[in-house]
Amino acid sequence: MYTLDLNQMSHNEFLTKYWQKKPVVIKQGFKDFVDPISTDEFAGIAMEETVQSRLVSKKEGQWQAEFGPFESYEHLGERDWSLVIQALDNFSEEAAELIEPFRFLPHWRLDDLMASFATEGGSVGPHVDNYDVFICQGSGKRHWRVGNKGQHTEVIAHEALLHVAPFEALIDVEMEAGDVLYIPPGFPHEGIALEPSMSFSIGFRANSSISLLSGFADHLIDNDLGGQLLADADRQVTKNSGEITNQDYANIKRQLQNLLDDDKLFKSFAGNFLTNAKHELDLMPSDEPFEADEVSELLGIHAIKRLGGLRAFYFEGAEEGSINDGICFINGEQVSFAAEIAPAIKLLCNQTIVMPDELSSWCDNQHFITLMVKLLDQGYWFWTEAE
Ligand code: SIN
Ligand code: CO
Repeated sequence: MYTLDLNQMSHNEFLTKYWQKKPVVIKQGFKDFVDPISTDEFAGIAMEETVQSRLVSKKEGQWQAEFGPFESYEHLGERDWSLVIQALDNFSEEAAELIEPFRFLPHWRLDDLMASFATEGGSVGPHVDNYDVFICQGSGKRHWRVGNKGQHTEVIAHEALLHVAPFEALIDVEMEAGDVLYIPPGFPHEGIALEPSMSFSIGFRANSSISLLSGFADHLIDNDLGGQLLADADRQVTKNSGEITNQDYANIKRQLQNLLDDDKLFKSFAGNFLTNAKHELDLMPSDEPFEADEVSELLGIHAIKRLGGLRAFYFEGAEEGSINDGICFINGEQVSFAAEIAPAIKLLCNQTIVMPDELSSWCDNQHFITLMVKLLDQGYWFWTEAE
């Protein structure tokens, strides 16, 4: 278990002073930090077909980038390269543990856990990200520089690498195992390995208005919604036929506004959108479908764990959504549940692991067991030892 110590700062103080405002180094945020994964294991994961990985290197001053899966690393030499894996939380239970200390932020804001191994001199280059990130230094040391937010000239260092021009440093620090660097969106940064080293980045992404709007449009199209035509049965004679009157403009705007104001519709879009997996899940659906009796019995013995990277959320007050049923969202789908099992649904959404004693009052609930059978069959939750 990883425990984050914000150096005497409470979570609230951190949010007020730094979150989305300015970068900060938290020296020894993790005491006695041990990498959750070995470098060999890490290199092995980047060889898998379903994993998004890239190798960034610099040869004779030229940036190079290659995309995984990789077959070998032998050609790379001893320095100036870095191997990056996206969504490592989907593929390593141990690495996913590093997300837990950041649960003081809501899970829907989380993007993924990205990790990198770099040899001496290795870096992905100076760049700006559009997400908040906590970079946790693992084994080895890296030199990090962070500049101020502002207009930074973009440099296409390679067709796959968008860098920024050299910047003046606000933060210039040598990070060692357990140090944490928080960087809000828009602040240029660069980390260069001083020796072979691992780094783990917990990223929080905010969707742009354009991605929300295009996602909403897709949702309307997929569900055959939003086809209502503009209605103007109360129209009066037009004096200036080339004019769009204020009233007509308001009517056009209202047509779109009405869709956004329909909370049932917008929540169903937002729930699907926010629980959609951005990276492939390491799904292992069960070979044999589970039986209700079996699940009911096993829930009393084993803990259940949510699959790494799987997103499951409910809206505040969801259990009061309608008279009989509540709604939650799991991996891009809307799931209706009987309002009486809302406390159990909340446990599934709020906790990565749910212990047998926490579910004891639900083991015999038909509604809960039916849902649990489905979730276990899908491989969205799996059995684990109750510690
Ligand atoms: C890295 O781990 O090398 C890069 C992390 C980042 O810049 O976000
Ligand atoms: Co970055």
